Amino acid sequence: MTTKRARRLVGAFLAIAAVGLLAACSNVGPQDALHPEGPVARDQLNLFTPVFWIATAVFVLVEGMVIVAAVKFRERRGGPQPVQVHGNTKLEIGWTIAPAVLLAAISVPTVAMIFSQAAVPTGDDVVHIKVTGHQWWWEYEYTDVDPPVKTGTEMVIPTGKKIYMEIESADVIHSFWVPKLGGKQDAIPGRTNHLTLVAEKPDLYYGQCAEFCALSHANMRLRVRSMPPAEFDAWIAGQQKDAVIPTSGLAAEGARAFKEFQNGTCMSCHTIRGIEGAAGTVGPDLTHFADRTWFAGAMLETNKENLITWLRDPPAVKPGSLMPNYHIPEDTIAALVEFLLSLK
Ligand code: CUA
Repeated sequence: MTTKRARRLVGAFLAIAAVGLLAACSNVGPQDALHPEGPVARDQLNLFTPVFWIATAVFVLVEGMVIVAAVKFRERRGGPQPVQVHGNTKLEIGWTIAPAVLLAAISVPTVAMIFSQAAVPTGDDVVHIKVTGHQWWWEYEYTDVDPPVKTGTEMVIPTGKKIYMEIESADVIHSFWVPKLGGKQDAIPGRTNHLTLVAEKPDLYYGQCAEFCALSHANMRLRVRSMPPAEFDAWIAGQQKDAVIPTSGLAAEGARAFKEFQNGTCMSCHTIRGIEGAAGTVGPDLTHFADRTWFAGAMLETNKENLITWLRDPPAVKPGSLMPNYHIPEDTIAALVEFLLSLK
């Protein structure tokens, strides 16, 4: 390869790398941990920022000295050989003690925060939610209320209250992460992890599974919808009720199709409280499906067109989806969509 060609290749590579790097820079990202909207995430950022700048200063100092040494003492043809030394005790003691002191200083606020954020919140203001990772969607169970409420994909929480989550997995390792609200926590099979989050204002937050969990890992997204506590209480009360099963029109046909399609295939995976026999737990509980603004691992917004696309061929939307393509006839899809959208 000629030098010219090699240079061109390196240039092209650097240009592509720069584009990739700059693409990560955005001021309005919905998953931007640098703009927290809750005290947990804010405390983490307030620790991260000084540590980041200290680390940056150390990096510039050390790399700067390496570059200066490499340039200043490089081999010159015919030049004199630099003075050969075995070592420098003072310098070596210095660069052992200085980082140790620095790390000890950083560890004080770090360890304090690890303990304060790991503390189990107590009091009437705590909302307990059991979070279960599935390939590839998140399930939420509100365990403070009886009967408990189960939803999927979109977690609804009251503003200002501490949300204490039990995080588990039904299959492989996942990781729950809503950057604007707090740090991530792994969902590990056979183990229960915990995470506390607080949202300050009513909003819709974006999250993402943060641990590679096979084919559709990138499609395992989530939403957190926060609302004022009174609204949340009303939401819980609504969720506790059984579904109102439509008795007329296309939606009623859909309800029938849900029960009867391929001898109860839908019911074997999905629960709909209000339909006898619909008690499957493989897929999300659909009792109040239309209340969620997103579905299918938060890949799709809940609307007619997206539901039709999904039911026609789920794995085409979410590769590897446990729900296969059942080749549901178009008129059955239309009825099922009408039925699902009636489940407020
Ligand atoms: Cu679940 Cu990645």
